[in-house]
Amino acid sequence: MTTETLDIKITKNTQSRLAQTDFSQLTFGHTFTDHMLVADYADGEWKNFEILPYGPIALSPAISSLHYGQAFFEGLKAYRHADGNVSVFRPDKNAARFNKSAERLCAPELPVDMFIQSIAALVDVERDWVPAADGYSLYIRPFMFATDPYLGVVPSNTYKFIVLTCPVGPYFTKPLRVKFETKYTRAAEGGFGFAKAAGNYAGSMLPSRKAVEEGFDQMIWTDSKEHQYAEELGAANVMFLIDGKLVTPSTRDTILDGVTRDTVIALAKDWGITVEERRVPITEIVEAARSGKLTDAFGAGTAATIAPIGAINYEGEELTLSDPASREFSNRLLNSLNDIRYGRAADTHSWNYMI
Ligand code: PLP
Ligand code: COI
Repeated sequence: MTTETLDIKITKNTQSRLAQTDFSQLTFGHTFTDHMLVADYADGEWKNFEILPYGPIALSPAISSLHYGQAFFEGLKAYRHADGNVSVFRPDKNAARFNKSAERLCAPELPVDMFIQSIAALVDVERDWVPAADGYSLYIRPFMFATDPYLGVVPSNTYKFIVLTCPVGPYFTKPLRVKFETKYTRAAEGGFGFAKAAGNYAGSMLPSRKAVEEGFDQMIWTDSKEHQYAEELGAANVMFLIDGKLVTPSTRDTILDGVTRDTVIALAKDWGITVEERRVPITEIVEAARSGKLTDAFGAGTAATIAPIGAINYEGEELTLSDPASREFSNRLLNSLNDIRYGRAADTHSWNYMI
């Protein structure tokens, strides 16, 4: 990792949309800030880092990412502290995961310091767009895609790295009613479920749409072989408090190694709670819910934050869980996470990257 300062050309947007933006009416991912960062990979190196007004870019219709999906992304957030300072939460973890995705998809590595400096520079330019209210933040979407205008199924030689930013509020506004997905599969062993590859999300849309048509908010993905083990919750990791222990599927080929998941595990360990990262059978969750031993269940993700599961449907049996407002563990988690992110509590793990 080099620590040289990245040379980023900045062209300011002279027509800011900030004053016309109603921060109380934000729908996730609809409102973009005034600028974006764009960089190119060609001739074996990253170059042309530039922050410029947000807007369309011209691309050949033959670029391989449009045809073969050689594209992947990250998601992280910047928070405004009460004293006005702005921090980004654990960008080093996203940088590392971005490179795991790159490796799996045969794309070039983006050095960690280039990833972090790109984000820091863009967030600095967009500082005034970072919302201040609790539960609000600036969502940061870095992504990379192949740009060779060539239809052969081979890795591209050229890529674009782009970072967009969006002010956002809560992704989910009510407890989730979920089912176990036992027909469709998000990811299979040997595949790329652990990568934040665009294709993983393309494949999830039909099962998601069907789940919504059946009256569910989300589904718990299960393993592709037997459909007997819980894997993830939509676009978040899934976590359960069973008999006072934090139980969550262990990371593997098919599971995204979530930054929020890692953060929750670290906090639970700080609090002396036993954490079990292992395979989690559907039957165990169902039995625990029936017997009252399942005292908490939630999705954990950057967009989702800590998203309580209100009810789980198992083969037609509706298992209604405790009122999320009364849950000790997930409420403590959300409060602690917010206190750290908004600078109200000591950042003992050094998770906040100050801008
Ligand atoms: N799993 C999937 C499939 C996701 O899309 C996400 C969202 O990023 C997560 C888990 C949670 O990961 P993180 O906490 O790093 O956002
Ligand atoms: C995130 O939490 O950052 C995600 O990527 C979820 C997203 C697909 C909305």
